[in-house]
Amino acid sequence: MGQDWDPEHYSRFADERDRPFVELLARVPDTAPARVVDLGCGPGRGVLAMARRWPHAEISGVDASPAMVQAARAAGASAEVGDLRAWASVDRPVVDLLVTTATLQWVPGHLEMLPALLRRVRPGGALAMSVPGNFGEPSHTLRREIAARPDYARHLAGVAEPAAHDPVDYLAVLAATPTPSSPGCPPPVPGPPWRPCPRTCARGSSRSSPPPCARPTPGPPWGWCCPSGGCSRWPAADDRSVARGPQEVPAPHTVSSMPARVRSTNLASPKPEPGGKPYATGIDKRPVPSIEVFAPGPSYGDGPGVVADHVGDEQHHGGAHKAVYAYAREELDHWERELSRGLSDGTFGENLTTEGIDLEALLVNQRIRVGDDVVLEVSVARTPCSTFAGHLGERGWLRRFTERGRCGVYLRVVAPGTVRAGDAVEVLEPPDHDVDMRVAFAAAMGDDEAAARVVAAGCLPRMYHDRLAARLRARG
Ligand SMILES: C[S@@+](CC[C@H](N)C(=O)[O-])C[C@H]1O[C@@H](n2cnc3c(N)ncnc32)[C@H](O)[C@@H]1O
Repeated sequence: MGQDWDPEHYSRFADERDRPFVELLARVPDTAPARVVDLGCGPGRGVLAMARRWPHAEISGVDASPAMVQAARAAGASAEVGDLRAWASVDRPVVDLLVTTATLQWVPGHLEMLPALLRRVRPGGALAMSVPGNFGEPSHTLRREIAARPDYARHLAGVAEPAAHDPVDYLAVLAATPTPSSPGCPPPVPGPPWRPCPRTCARGSSRSSPPPCARPTPGPPWGWCCPSGGCSRWPAADDRSVARGPQEVPAPHTVSSMPARVRSTNLASPKPEPGGKPYATGIDKRPVPSIEVFAPGPSYGDGPGVVADHVGDEQHHGGAHKAVYAYAREELDHWERELSRGLSDGTFGENLTTEGIDLEALLVNQRIRVGDDVVLEVSVARTPCSTFAGHLGERGWLRRFTERGRCGVYLRVVAPGTVRAGDAVEVLEPPDHDVDMRVAFAAAMGDDEAAARVVAAGCLPRMYHDRLAARLRARG
C-alpha cells in the first residue's frame, strides 16, 4: 500500500464518506447474512452500520492500516490487520456478504483480482463493492499538481496513487466469472454467435427454462445470450461496443454506444521540459470549459491552433497540420489499467479528450464537425517523443505507446470557432482512399509496408509524403 492512514483525519468527513456506503448497503438484498466481511474497513463505521442492520450476523473488517484497525476496534468493531489480496488468495470459508468500499482503487491489479473475491462468496450470496472514479476532478488534479511541485515531490516520492476502471469493465469481469451462484447454468460458450438480450435473462437467473431472446430494450445491464438461450455471458472488457448498449453492429468509428463527443477541452499548463531542454513544455494540459480553435500558419514554428495553448518544441510542433491534438478517453482508460495509475484528461497533451469515437479508424484527411460550427480535418500521426516519455515517467514508454498503435490524431482547422466540453462529434464524408490513422502511424514509426500504402494514396502533406517516399527509395 505504501502508506499508513490517519483515522482521525479520515473521520473528519465521516458523514460524507458514510453516504456511499449506506447507499450501497441499501442495495444488498435483505437475506439476513450470517457472515459478513468488509475489506478495507477503515475506521470501522461500515462494520458498525452493518452490525446495526444485521445484529445476529458475524461481521468483521480487514484493513491494511494498523492505525485504522485500532480506531475500528476502539469504536467497537471487530477488525483485523491484513491485506485484502492475501485475504482473497487464501482458501477460507465463504461469506454471505463481502463488502469493499472506496478501497480497491488503492490496490494495483484489482480488476484481475475480482474473480478471487467472488470465489470467497457463497452461492447465492452477494459481493457489494464501490470504487470511486473521480480522479479527473479538481480535488484530485489539484492535489496531483501540488504534489508534483519540487518542494513537495521529494517528500511524496513513493506515495501510492489511486486508480479506478470504467464501471463497464468491472461489470464485464464480474459477470464473466463463473460462480456456483447460478445453478443450472452451463459454463458460457466462448465466442459468437451471441445475440444481445434484455436483462430478464441476465446471468445468475435461476430460471429453469430459458426466456426467449427478445429485441433489445434500451438501458443496461445487457446480457449476452447463447444460441440455446438461458444463461448469458457478458462481453469481455474489449467488447465495450456491445457492453454499453443495444447496437448490434456499431457504426464506423464508434467505440461504444455512447454518442461521439468531446469529453473535455484542455489547455497547456507549461512546465519545465522533463529532459532539461531549454524551454517550457506544453504537454501537460488541463481541462477548461471550452477552447477557441483557429488555423495557424503552415509551419511548425507558427504556434498552436488553440488560443492560449503553449508549444514548447517549435521545431516539431505547432503549425497548420498540428493545430489541434485529440486523444480518446477510452485509450487513457486502457493506459490507466496498464500503468495502474490515474491519467486525467489532457495528460497525453491532447487539446480534445474524446469519447465514443475510434480516432485511429478515421481516414487521413477525414473531416469531422465538432459542435455546431467547428470543422476539423485529420492530418498527421502523433509520433511519441522524449518529452512525452519524460512527462509520463514510464519505463519503455516510447516502445509501449508505439506497440499499442493508438496515437490519437492531429487535426487541421477548417472552420474555426469555439469547442466546448460535451460538444458532439460528427464524422463527415470520407475522403477517397483507405489510409486510416493506424496505418499512417505505423508508416511514421518505420513500417515500410504501411509507408508504401500511405505514399501510394498520396494523402499526407507534402513534407511528410516526401519523407516517407525518400525512406522507401533508400531501402530499395
Ligand atoms: C478510503 S478508505 C475506505 C474506508 C472505508 N471502506 C470507507 O468506505 O470509508 C481506504 C481503506 O483501504 C485500506 N486499504 C488500502 N489498500 C488495502 C489493501 N491492499 N488491503 C486492505 N486494506 C487496504 C486503507 O488502509 C484504508 O483504510
